[in-house]
Amino acid sequence: MIPVRDSAHTGCFFIRTFGCQMNVHDSEHIAGVLVDSGYSRAASIEEASVVIFNTCCVRQGAEDRVWGNLSMLAADRDSKRIVAICGCMAQRHGVEIFRRFPIVRLVFGLDALARLPELLESSRGAPICDLGDVNAARIDELSAIRKSGLAAWVPISHGCDNMCAYCVVPSVRGAERSREPGDILSEIATLTDGGVLEVTLLGQNVNTYGRDLGGEENFAWLLQAVGSAEGMRRVKFETSHPRDLGDDILKVMAEADAACEYLHLPVQSGSNRVLEAMNRGYTREYYMERASRARKAIGGVALSTDIIVGFPGETQKDFEDTLDLVKTVRFDAAYMFLYSPREGTSAFGLEDDVPLDEKRMRFAELEFVQSEITRESLGKIVGSDVEVLVEGVAKDGRHIMGRTRDHRVVVLPADEAQEDTLVRAVVCGAGGHSLRGSVKEVIIGPDEATNRHEVQG
Ligand code: 5AD
Ligand code: SF4
Repeated sequence: MIPVRDSAHTGCFFIRTFGCQMNVHDSEHIAGVLVDSGYSRAASIEEASVVIFNTCCVRQGAEDRVWGNLSMLAADRDSKRIVAICGCMAQRHGVEIFRRFPIVRLVFGLDALARLPELLESSRGAPICDLGDVNAARIDELSAIRKSGLAAWVPISHGCDNMCAYCVVPSVRGAERSREPGDILSEIATLTDGGVLEVTLLGQNVNTYGRDLGGEENFAWLLQAVGSAEGMRRVKFETSHPRDLGDDILKVMAEADAACEYLHLPVQSGSNRVLEAMNRGYTREYYMERASRARKAIGGVALSTDIIVGFPGETQKDFEDTLDLVKTVRFDAAYMFLYSPREGTSAFGLEDDVPLDEKRMRFAELEFVQSEITRESLGKIVGSDVEVLVEGVAKDGRHIMGRTRDHRVVVLPADEAQEDTLVRAVVCGAGGHSLRGSVKEVIIGPDEATNRHEVQG
C-alpha cells in the first residue's frame, strides 16, 4: 500500500514513464504544462497528489508493468490522489481502463495535453476520457522541462506510415507527420543558446522525415542543418528504417563533425521469409549491404539493432538465419524481444505458433552469441580516450554514468565527475554492457554554461 503524505493536497505531481524515448520526451512536456499551471514536482509517488502514468503498449510485458503499477496504487483505497493515464495504452484502451481500474480518474491523449490542468480539476467530479485526435496532436509548441541541461530530445516527426506486421505503433500514434523544418531549427537554436551540446532527433522512422511536407527538405538535409547549428557538438537520431537509409544520410553522418558515430538500425530478423511476413520491405542481403556501407563510410561507427524472436511461422532454419546475420554483421549492441501478439496488427491474425519454451531457447542462444560480440566490441575500446557526456547516477547507485559519442555507457567514479558535464575519460575496463573509465579532463564543467538545469524549451 502506498500511503499519501500530508503534502498530497498541495498540487504536486509525479510522472512515471514507460516505453521509448519519445514517451520520455512527451513526459517532459507533461511536466512543462503542469509546472506552467502552478503544480510542483513531487519527490516520490507517495507525496504526489497527481500521479500520471505515461504508458507503452508495444509488447504485452510493457502493458503488464503498467497494470501492475495500477494494482499497487489501487491497494490504497483511501487515497485522494488523482491517477491519470496517457500515452500508448490510453490511446489503445480508452475508457476500458476505468472498468479495469476504477481508481483511474483521467485517461488523456496528447491532443488533450494543453487542457491537462482543467481536465485534472474536472476529473475530481467524474472520470474523464479525453483522447482527442491523435493525428491532430501538436505538443511540440508546449513548454517542456528537460532533465539535462546538456542533452535534449527533439522530435522531428510523429506517428508512422510503415505497416510492420507485428507493430501496434501506427494504430496508437497515427500517421507520420513531419514537423516544419523552421520549427525544429528554432527549437534547436533555443536549446543550444541555453547550453545544450547534444541533441537526439526522434521519430518512429526518422529517415522518411519531410516526405509528407512535399518540399525539398529530407532527413539528410535536416541532419546537416542541425549539425551546423551554432554551439552544436553532438547529434544522434533514432529510429532508422533500413529501407529508407539512403547514401545521402550516410554521407552527412560521415562528413558532419557533430553527427555522432552511432546508428541504431533495427533488422528484426535475419530470415528473408520472416522479413517478408513482417512486411519490412528489405532482404537480409540488402540489410547487410547497408550495414557494411555504413561501417565503411563512417569511421568508428557503432551499430545497434532490434531483433524479434519467435515471430509466427519462424522455423529453426529462419532462426539460424538470424543467428548467422548477427554473427556476420557483428552488432556493437542488440536489443532482443520475444514476439508478443498485439491486437490491431496484421500479424495478430496469424497463429502465434512458436511455443514459449522454444522462443525462450532461441532468445537465450541469440543473447549468448550477441553478448560475446558486444563484449569484444567494448573490449576494443579499453585503453583509449573517449568523450563522455555525464548523465547521472549509474545503475549501481554508487557510480556516475554517461555516454560516448557512439552511445556506449561509461561508468565513472562518483568523485571524478558531476552530472551535466562533458569530460574526456580513459577507458580502463569493459563489462558485458558498459565501459569503466577514469576522468582525464573536464571539457565543460558544471559552471560553464548558463541555464543548465530545467531548461525550458
Ligand atoms: N513483439 C515483440 N517485439 C516487438 N517490437 C515491436 N513490436 C513488437 C512485438 N509485437 C520490438 C521491435 C521494435 C522495438 C521497439 O520493439 O524490435 O524495433
Ligand atoms: Fe511503446 Fe511504441 Fe508507444 Fe513508444 S511509440 S511508447 S515503443 S508503443
